Amino acid sequence: MEAFIIEGGNPLRGEVTISGAKNAVLGIIPAAVLCACTSKIENVPDIKDVNKMVDILEKLGAEIYREKDTLIINTEKPIAYDVSEYDEETGQMRASYYLLGALLGRYRKAIVPLPGGCNIGDRPIDQHIKGFQALGAKVVIEHGHVKMEAPNLKGAHIFFDVVSVGATINVMLAAVRADGLTVLENAAKEPHIVDVANFLNLMGANIKGAGTDVIKIRGVDEMHGCEYSVIPDQITTGTYMMAAAVTKGNVLIKNVIPKHMEAITAKLTEMGVEVREEDDGIRVIGKRPLKAINVKTMPYPGFPTDLQQPMAVLMAIARGTSTITESIFESRFKYVDELRRMGATVSINSRTASITGVKTLSATKIRTTDLRAGAAMVLAGLIADGETKITDIVHIDRGYENLQENLRGLGAVIRRISE
Ligand code: EPZ
Repeated sequence: MEAFIIEGGNPLRGEVTISGAKNAVLGIIPAAVLCACTSKIENVPDIKDVNKMVDILEKLGAEIYREKDTLIINTEKPIAYDVSEYDEETGQMRASYYLLGALLGRYRKAIVPLPGGCNIGDRPIDQHIKGFQALGAKVVIEHGHVKMEAPNLKGAHIFFDVVSVGATINVMLAAVRADGLTVLENAAKEPHIVDVANFLNLMGANIKGAGTDVIKIRGVDEMHGCEYSVIPDQITTGTYMMAAAVTKGNVLIKNVIPKHMEAITAKLTEMGVEVREEDDGIRVIGKRPLKAINVKTMPYPGFPTDLQQPMAVLMAIARGTSTITESIFESRFKYVDELRRMGATVSINSRTASITGVKTLSATKIRTTDLRAGAAMVLAGLIADGETKITDIVHIDRGYENLQENLRGLGAVIRRISE
């Protein structure tokens, strides 16, 4: 088991460059199986979830070469559509569900274990299934596996009951190879949806409207390999913006898309943080006092649920009482007990946390409950008085590339220990 040890109280200063988007590349890698072809994907982050997805695809028959942040995926040889023997691998992350759409698109059939992922709520896949059934798939869920067959995969008009990132991408992956037109209504608009759609269009798909709530997909018979560079990670960018703000630092965050950060920039500015766009990135300058604010998580372009937990750390030392309303996932406040252990004042009422700021947090031993909670624990450690120990950091490695090296490069006193 590995842990982080952080000596708090050091403002972050300098520059950091953002790596590729986890939630985009986890849709793009499975998309490569949609044809017998070779694709080159650049700006791929070196994180556990990506390495897990690569591992699964190799077990299914793909040949994958990695050089630094570039993946060459060769799916010329037949790829197995039955993934059922890889429960353990697929159970360790959510995005394994994208194998359903990709394999159904290529082979008109797929057998994939139900997905794993962060324990932040029920996380059903009924909207994914609804979409696949609308395209003509017969779907059976038994023994923890989703079995699908669709001899006639046909375009359809699909209205999602909830805005779902996963369902939007998954049904898109199948619809690109269906006969005729598919219309996805009430679709998710996150930047990673657009990134996956751009990759698919470079492979020869015909997708229009990604990034809006109505996506039109005209199925194609042929697709081919392509070269693509993944967008920078919106959530990683937000995490470093908050790390700079909470430590009263001054950091230039490079390789970012400012448009994707508007909701985060607006809330940090409301707290009194200085955020300014520069030629090669976004500069964040932390100020005191931080003002209390109210945040409600929403689908893009609203405030992302994946930054709810790090935002709570800024609120924990702000002047006054802030609130966070979590509208996406029903149990994403598991980290609050750890913050309370450090002296934070937090009360929870259903899906809203009220956080009354304290002068400082006190260092102690805390644990990571999931990926983004882990980011929050690291931010808390960076400002606590004394040495904080954060356990179960395997969750953090799932989604952040070189976190401790990057933070150390910005002046943080952080080390990784094995126990
Ligand atoms: C994706 O999860 C991300 N994961 C999550 O990021 C992110 O929090 C989430 O989107 C929201 O932005 C990946 O991209 C791998 P949803 P996903 O389907 O697809 C309900 C991180 O930290 N719903 O948009 O699982 C669902 O329960 C992770 O990087 C249904 O009811 O999220 C939730 O309440 C954590 N039925 C809401 O919709 C469905 O079939 C949004 O979920 C699907 C979803």
